[in-house]
Amino acid sequence: MLRASLLSLACAALVAVAPSGARAAEPAATPFTLPALPYAVDALAPVIDARTMEIHHGRHHKAYVDNLNAKVAEFPALADASIEDVMANISDYDTAVRNNGGGHYNHSLFWSVMAAPGQGGAPSAALAARITQDFGSDADFRKAFADAAAKQFGSGWAWLIARPDGSLAVTSTPNQDNPLMDVVETRGTPLLGIDVWEHAYYLQYQNKRADYAKAWWDVVDWKAVNTRYEAAMQAKAD
Ligand SMILES: [Fe+2]
Repeated sequence: MLRASLLSLACAALVAVAPSGARAAEPAATPFTLPALPYAVDALAPVIDARTMEIHHGRHHKAYVDNLNAKVAEFPALADASIEDVMANISDYDTAVRNNGGGHYNHSLFWSVMAAPGQGGAPSAALAARITQDFGSDADFRKAFADAAAKQFGSGWAWLIARPDGSLAVTSTPNQDNPLMDVVETRGTPLLGIDVWEHAYYLQYQNKRADYAKAWWDVVDWKAVNTRYEAAMQAKAD
């Protein structure tokens, strides 16, 4: 304790005598913020337990935000760009921005497309019709999505996206990549995404990713997905 106090005093003295030009640079701007969960940490139980949500949001997502903000000094364009713009031009940045910016975008979306079990509603008539048109049936869509989640080797995400031509597709991306990035094979607007990193499910499901992906349908917030689909179709029309 005494040692810590002496150290603190010594540091204060050094700061006091240092010329202003010798001070550390101004702290970097922090344009990206961790969004609050739109529900309580236990709201998604029993599909996703509260402890997983606390760690996933409060530690993993927070780390992505902190690490992304730490890159602003190196990439000043980050200070004025939306996270969507950063994703669309991710080839202008380095791997750390790709990983942490992707992590921030992906998790922000993930929290927003989930709701308490049974509270998420259903696909709108327009989205349901397009699912049938592009996948054959809702069951076929769900199978394609589950397959994408299961077959993503290692950490990553499975997605339902709206393509630029308005069609729907199921894709997967490794690590924290996403379909907005200008470096991925199949690009589009994410409507729904499931995190298949082990940190998303391991406490509750251990290695049984398929069980997590199957249970996850109960917490999909179709009302949010419908809104994202309508916005994507509106953007396409504009
Ligand atoms: Fe995650």
